[in-house]
Amino acid sequence: MTGYRVAVIPGDGVGTEVAAEAVRVLEAAGSRFGFDLSTESYAWGCDWYLERGEMMPEDALETLAGFDAIFLGCIGDAAKVPDDVSLTMLLRIRTGFDQYVNLRPIRLYPGVSTPIETASPETVDMVVVRENTEGEYARLGGIFKAGSPDGFAIQTGVFTRKGCERVIRYAFDLARSRKKLGDGPEVGRVTNCTKSNALNYSMVFWDQVYSSVAADYPEVATDKALVDALTMWFVKKPEWFDVVVASNLFGDIITDLGSMLQGGMGLAAGGNIDPERRYPSMFEPIHGSAPKYTGQGRVNPIASIEAARMMLDHLGEHQAAEGVGSAISKVLAAGEVRTADLGGTSSTAEVGAAVAAEVG
Ligand code: IPM
Ligand code: MN
Repeated sequence: MTGYRVAVIPGDGVGTEVAAEAVRVLEAAGSRFGFDLSTESYAWGCDWYLERGEMMPEDALETLAGFDAIFLGCIGDAAKVPDDVSLTMLLRIRTGFDQYVNLRPIRLYPGVSTPIETASPETVDMVVVRENTEGEYARLGGIFKAGSPDGFAIQTGVFTRKGCERVIRYAFDLARSRKKLGDGPEVGRVTNCTKSNALNYSMVFWDQVYSSVAADYPEVATDKALVDALTMWFVKKPEWFDVVVASNLFGDIITDLGSMLQGGMGLAAGGNIDPERRYPSMFEPIHGSAPKYTGQGRVNPIASIEAARMMLDHLGEHQAAEGVGSAISKVLAAGEVRTADLGGTSSTAEVGAAVAAEVG
């Protein structure tokens, strides 16, 4: 029997609750679709930091490297550790394992409502491909003359040709395989999320790389939107979008908006992917750790289960991934078992159990 080893980092706040439901569904998928899945849990995060002065051990990446994939609940609790410190853990894994694609599918499941009127299951079907290792997240710069009236800060974005090219190429490959536009001369579309009018070095460079990669994909339509206008178009005409490729920060921002197109943060998932499979990829709900809800069992686990679905797809268990996708779909469409964010009264565990039962 095929076997997978998954490292689980539940993290902070509600991370433990939502990760447990992802694991429950992964296990159900394993027994239904005939693979063995073993998990190892690591209690890294803010409490670990309070005891040991680090978010995870020095050799954490060596530990994680032995796994087929990583599941992350959520990280951060500003009451315990400043956010700019706690996020280093996430960034260390993303960059250390060169997970250069942050893949964020945005789909609206039937039966889920959204505050955005144009959004429906027919109009919302896109994927944001976010650069995940450099750009505005390079953490280069400094604060000078700190605390004095002359104090100033410099934060530098890093855009390498290699870094831009590989993520843009991934986006074009994805559009080619999705065939959202059908079988015509152009089968898909990659929207370049940019800001080259104002960011006259980094984003002009990014645009040039986009154009040179696009030339290799005549069957994929090109498209360009400045990030500010793109947020407007996401709301005004979501059906236009197929694959959107964005730098690290822009991708971060537009996917929170994207989460509202898909019904809220409780449904949005992401994968931190090393497409070359040199290292394990990491899957996570994109919501925060919501410390105020910790232990109440009220947070929606669908985002987490959706991240598990993406993990199965990445591992090559496509049937199981489809099985989980349709189980999510059934539970959401039936509308009986749902958490408070979707207007229901069910607990986190009840939703997880309902999805797992549909899988099994
Ligand atoms: C995300 C999060 C992270 C990010 C934070 C927690 C560092 O917002 O995954 O979208 O900015 O990438
Ligand atoms: Mn974010």
